[in-house]
Formats: sequence, C-alpha cells, structure tokens
Amino acid sequence: MNKKVVVLPGDGIGPEIIEEAVKVLRALVASGEFPVEFEYGHIGGAAIDRTGVPLPDETLDLARAADAILLGSIGGPKWDGLERQRRPETGLLQLRAALGAFANLRPAILYPQLLSASTLKPDIVSGLDLLIVRELTGGIYFGIPRGIRQIDDREREAFNTLVYRESEIVRICKVAFDIATQRHQHVCSVDKANVLEVSQLWREVAECVAQDYPTVRLTHMYIDNAAMQLVLAPKQFDVIVTSNLFGDILSDEAAMLTGSIGMLPSASLDGKGKGLYEPAHGSAPDIAGKQLANPLATILSAAMMMRYSLGLPELAERIETAVGHVLDRGLRTFDISSPGTQRVGTAEMGDAVLKAL
Ligand code: IPM
Ligand code: MG
Repeated sequence: MNKKVVVLPGDGIGPEIIEEAVKVLRALVASGEFPVEFEYGHIGGAAIDRTGVPLPDETLDLARAADAILLGSIGGPKWDGLERQRRPETGLLQLRAALGAFANLRPAILYPQLLSASTLKPDIVSGLDLLIVRELTGGIYFGIPRGIRQIDDREREAFNTLVYRESEIVRICKVAFDIATQRHQHVCSVDKANVLEVSQLWREVAECVAQDYPTVRLTHMYIDNAAMQLVLAPKQFDVIVTSNLFGDILSDEAAMLTGSIGMLPSASLDGKGKGLYEPAHGSAPDIAGKQLANPLATILSAAMMMRYSLGLPELAERIETAVGHVLDRGLRTFDISSPGTQRVGTAEMGDAVLKAL
C-alpha cells in the first residue's frame, strides 16, 4: 500500500521551503524508489484566512489518516493580534497534541563546510553533533489551569501550570535513552530541580529509566547552567532530554551553534511510527516570498521522515549526503553565506540538492 504524506506549507516562508522539499521527495517517487501519495492541507494563518481557525477539522482528519506530516512554518504579524485560541501557534500545538507527537527530536549538527558560519570559535563547535529530545505535548505549554483573571479592581494576574505525569516523563526518557544507545551512550537530563517539584520528579524518573540502560551514562544539569554550557563547551553533550519549554529555548540556542537555524530539521514522534516533520525555524515573514529562505532544514526534515516514519533509512542518508555535496560545492543561501561561497536562492538550492541526488 502506498504511504500517505500530508503536506502543510503554512505561512511566511513555509510554502517556498516546502516546495523544495516536495520537489526532492517527488523526484524519489518518480524514480520508483518509494511509493507515496501527497495530500495538501492548511494550517496556521493560511487556515485562519480560509476557515477562521488555525487547525480546521479537515486538516486534522488528513493528518490523522497519514503516515507522516511534513510542515513548513506558521505565524506572522498579520495574525499576531488574535486572541490565543485563534492564533496560528495554537493550531500547531493542537496538531502536535492531537497526533500525540510527544517526542521532539532536534539534532544540532555542524556541517564541516559551515564552520565559518557559526558565531562561535571553530574549535568550540567543529564536529558538533548533539540531539535535543524535547517533550512536546505536556508541561507548561498545555497545563491547566491557565488564564488571565482580574484579582481586584486595580489589577489582573496571569497564570500557567507546569505539570508532568510520571508516565509522560518515562516515555520521553525512554526515547532519549534508546537513541543514546545508537549514539555516544550519554544522556544529559536538563531541569530546574533546585527550585521546581516537577523537576525533582523528572530527575527521579530519569534515574529509574536509566536502570534499564546500563551502557548509557545519565547526568543531570540545571537549565541555567545548560544554557551556559551549550555555548561554553557544546561538545560535552550527546543527547539532551528535557521538558517542553526548556527544550524550546535550548533548541534555538543549539541551532545557532551550527551557524544557522535554517539548517536544522526536526521530527515529532508519537512512538508508534507516525511523525510530524518540520524545520526548527519559524516563518520568517520578513523574507517570505523573496526566494531568500534556506530550504535545507525542511529537506533534512523530509529525510528524517524517511528514516522514522517511512522505513527508508537509505533514502534518508542519500538526501543527507546530497545536502553535504551541495555545501561542498560552495552553494549557500544568505543565512549561511560567507566570503568565497556562491549565494543562491531557495529554489536554486532545492534544484542543487535534486541534482546531487
Ligand atoms: C517551536 C516553536 C513553537 C513552540 C511555537 C511556534 C508554538 O517555537 O517549534 O520551537 O514553541 O513549540
Ligand atoms: Mg521554538
């Protein structure tokens, strides 16, 4: 049976970068290498403009029936004034929750060709290869109660709830440990256990899960220190496992170690094979429609999709190798350009990857 991939271009640079990733996927399909059907849907601002809501039922039904979802990016100033329930970001969070995509894998790999694109000194980042495993469907993003209320006739207060169940911590830690066994056997769990009860429980549970992985070393780090260590000595990390909000923050920081957030893919997995694949960056409304965006994070997300949802790890590797070739040739979108390299636009970059395949 053909595999079904749902494509959700979204907003801003989303449609441009998605087009390049789909171009690469379609070429593989055309060569008969992997039978797959593509279906398109709307999410975020694009969906709000058409239906009034950021995640229409239609899109959700498509996503539920698919083997994998490839998403561009969502959001933009046009929809910033909307109340929270109707914002583009809410659509993305609803999609992650509805799919049960609790395990967000965000690799930060420095391509040797991009060493000079990083703002850090070469010896600090050369050879960097770390993976952030971010819990994605719980924590303070989803905790109830939440809201803004009037407390007296002078002022309001706002509140969110940070809550994790043991089972939620167990399953994300297992994902991290499983992956660490395939990597360098080290998991660093990041928390704020000196202040938060949630983090105390997180630590206990992580220790407990670690018992089943005798070859993997577990260490713990407070989030503030982890933020510092990431720029001080990022190569000390192999797999970082952390909660939703801490992972959100650390993954942007880790992305910049590699030169550009425009290079970083992500996978959000439900633990049963289905996944949502999206670049780690946002919708960059300031450069949307100008063919300036870097499509490589989305193309690399499509490679992750091959590996984790479509059972085609060889094709994933081929895409990743092709990206390496294109960088070897000196082709760069503006975010990763440096003296002596050749500036190309979004579609040219996609075409170059295609050719390298
Ligand atoms: C991300 C983004 C999202 C998040 C936003 C757009 C809701 O920052 O994927 O990291 O906070 O999860
Ligand atoms: Mg983020």
